[in-house]
Amino acid sequence: MATMTLFTFPGFETLAEPLDPYLQQREFQIRRFANGEIFVTIATPFDLSHCILLGSITPPDENLLSLALLAHTLKKDGCKRITALIPYLAYSRQDKQKAGESLATAWTGSILHASGVDTVITIDVHSEHDQALYPMPLMSVSPAGVFAEAARKFGLADATVVAPDHGALQRCRALNNALGRAGVEVPYLSKRRDPSGVKHLEFCGQAAPRVLILDDILDTGATLTSACEMILRNGAKEIVVMVTHGLFTGSDWARLWSLGVSRIFCADTVPLPGSILEDPRITVLPVGSLLREGL
Ligand code: R5P
Repeated sequence: MATMTLFTFPGFETLAEPLDPYLQQREFQIRRFANGEIFVTIATPFDLSHCILLGSITPPDENLLSLALLAHTLKKDGCKRITALIPYLAYSRQDKQKAGESLATAWTGSILHASGVDTVITIDVHSEHDQALYPMPLMSVSPAGVFAEAARKFGLADATVVAPDHGALQRCRALNNALGRAGVEVPYLSKRRDPSGVKHLEFCGQAAPRVLILDDILDTGATLTSACEMILRNGAKEIVVMVTHGLFTGSDWARLWSLGVSRIFCADTVPLPGSILEDPRITVLPVGSLLREGL
């Protein structure tokens, strides 16, 4: 690992800590021309054999372009190999082949690849299908072990893991496995999203009084608030939420507190504002050490 050079985007210093002993940290700057064009500068000289870029694509447009331009600059200067550690991989939800709709997962992969990124390592990619849409290797590391450890620590090891939609079943099974409950059935909610919003239609499986609902993304909270309403209707007395990527966009997600949610766990895959970090009901779980797995 000694010949790898690390470029950490602002806000990701904590995630970089477990990598620091292995990689040489390098300074770089991302500035803008007066009209907003991005301009990258890197302090030289440094080892160009294998460069590691660390940062999530959030806010999406600005950070995707910054990451791509940094990769392009490094390749232009002779870097042999670039690995992008992108804990939260934005645009991964646009992965459906539908005529007349953008397929932004493939588009993001193409931009990164064309800019010189050879491999992407992310945490809990939205779906396995995304990997097929990238033109280069896209590796996803599961945070199930970290979530299971938190569940044990907070006395939740016996709560029933419920998936808020069919797509979340696999990550919920991974959590059950990490909790030593391999093969235990995961109840899930059937979900429909249309222009009027998210609708949960049916609770499929065995209802339970203590529920741990696990999803990859909490964006506006529409999925999880609707899911909690359905879970409450099915007899739950206590609900705990676990999400890998806590985006906490807007304020609607806060309705979760009035729907029986006692705690939200999220990984530190995106920089979180003070209002989230200081809320005693929200527990942020460090996952930086997982990123080492793929290097
Ligand atoms: C959808 O398939 C995802 O897994 C999440 O459930 C969804 O993107 C969360 O977004 P929101 O919080 O806005 O419902």
